[in-house]
Amino acid sequence: MNTWRNLPGKAFVTLASLDPGLRGRARRAAAGLSPGEAGLFLAMARYDLAHSLAVAARVEEDPLLRRAALLHDTGKLRSELGLYARWLYTALEITSPSLLGKLERRVEADAEGSGVMERMASLPRGWRRGLFVQLHHAEIAGRLLEALGSDDMLVALVGSHQDEPRDASARRLREADDRL
Ligand SMILES: [Fe+2]
Ligand SMILES: [Fe+2]
Repeated sequence: MNTWRNLPGKAFVTLASLDPGLRGRARRAAAGLSPGEAGLFLAMARYDLAHSLAVAARVEEDPLLRRAALLHDTGKLRSELGLYARWLYTALEITSPSLLGKLERRVEADAEGSGVMERMASLPRGWRRGLFVQLHHAEIAGRLLEALGSDDMLVALVGSHQDEPRDASARRLREADDRL
């Protein structure tokens, strides 16, 4: 959840996303992932790569948390929202949570199907699907990793990273994520 307090972190990540060496750093960081996970990680937009690398740097002494940090936001790959629309989402989160809540309830009501992937695919491309993905990106990332055969602990950490932390590892990931 974004608030005024993590805007300095977002500014840092925006600058880091402009670093010409970003892709090289990301490729080196991906060496600790399975080939499928690395493909998913490296497919992310520059901003998400910079964010994930910065989160990983805060938890790097724990190999599982480091992998979770690199992969936690890969669900946003399905968002198809450009960076400006994502900034608008962040701006609404901070300045007008009630309007955002209204839009979110509408999208949740429009999505049909049982699982999160089916519900996502039921929405037309554009802001509705983008908003749904933004809301459910953790669970979507968990499904993508499950499909790649990632281990259960990694799937659980990534899939629940937007929920109330259930243990110390989840709390550490959340704290690092919330700053950036
Ligand atoms: Fe996230
Ligand atoms: Fe994140």
